[in-house]
Amino acid sequence: MNLDHYLDDDDLVRELRADVHNGLTAQPKWLPPKWFYDARGSELFEEITRLPEYYPTRAEREVLLRHAGDIARTTNAKTLIELGSGSSEKTRLLLDALRAHGTLGAFVPLDVSGSALREAMARIVADYPGLSVHGVVGDFTRHLGHLPSGGTRLVAFLGGTIGNLLPAERAQFLAALRAALEPGDWLLLGTDLVKDPAVLVAAYDDAAGVTAQFNRNVLRVLNRELDGDFDVDAFDHVALWDAGQEWIEMRLRARRAMRVRLPVVDLTVDFAAGEELRTEISAKFRRDGVDRELTAAGFAPRHWWTDPAGRFAQSLAEAVPG
Ligand code: AVJ
Repeated sequence: MNLDHYLDDDDLVRELRADVHNGLTAQPKWLPPKWFYDARGSELFEEITRLPEYYPTRAEREVLLRHAGDIARTTNAKTLIELGSGSSEKTRLLLDALRAHGTLGAFVPLDVSGSALREAMARIVADYPGLSVHGVVGDFTRHLGHLPSGGTRLVAFLGGTIGNLLPAERAQFLAALRAALEPGDWLLLGTDLVKDPAVLVAAYDDAAGVTAQFNRNVLRVLNRELDGDFDVDAFDHVALWDAGQEWIEMRLRARRAMRVRLPVVDLTVDFAAGEELRTEISAKFRRDGVDRELTAAGFAPRHWWTDPAGRFAQSLAEAVPG
């Protein structure tokens, strides 16, 4: 088991400062969703995946349970690369299928969190004797050029995380991924699908308030990392469906006028009463849109599978010669 580092804590602190400076001086204010995921945020996200309203994790698991064998037979992959691997739990369904198919040789998880990666890798190493496990601490928008080569590769980007990117960022990301692959390599892309807005909004505004805590957690991260003085509880959680863009937007709404100090970035930020800060978009997809985006980036969509209820999809696409 080995671990390559393309990001360290100093890089992350620098990025956080730049993002906070850009986002909180913009009009309207925004922050990128990647900063939700400190240890507490990652735990809250795990809790979200078990909420009755949050169907994507269970729906995605259903698709993988039904079709992991098809994925192994179609790709004959030797190396499974997982982007934004987190706890790597769903990955096991893919590892098991590739192992049973007889082609599996290596697993390459990539994540921004070195500590999460080390823990997840140790569990995989213990359970898959003989598997070569090669972790990459990096950002899936910046370090795709460092993926190891050799043998047919299958890149899994699960959970619907691609929906956190804006359309132009998605195009850039998919093109960079295609450039890092060879013809005959594969992409397995998980996308949450457009559906009844009431179902979508409930998934991002659960009755128990876990998503609200997850959303506010980004302010705790800023308080801790930038010595900020956000009154975290003075912000309301907002989740809304943008029907034009077909994405869920999460925001934090200031309950009263506030002045927040972030001395580490030399910033004083004023919020008007009711002012909203955008913290995440989570785009929802349709088959024709996913196929179009994959094709534009140099992938040929070969399979499309959904759960029986049609809530969540996996696309399996092959990298084709440019
Ligand atoms: C991990 C990005 C797929 O967008 O559904 C869950 C994050 N945000 N609830 C998503 C999230 C609020 C999640 N992703």
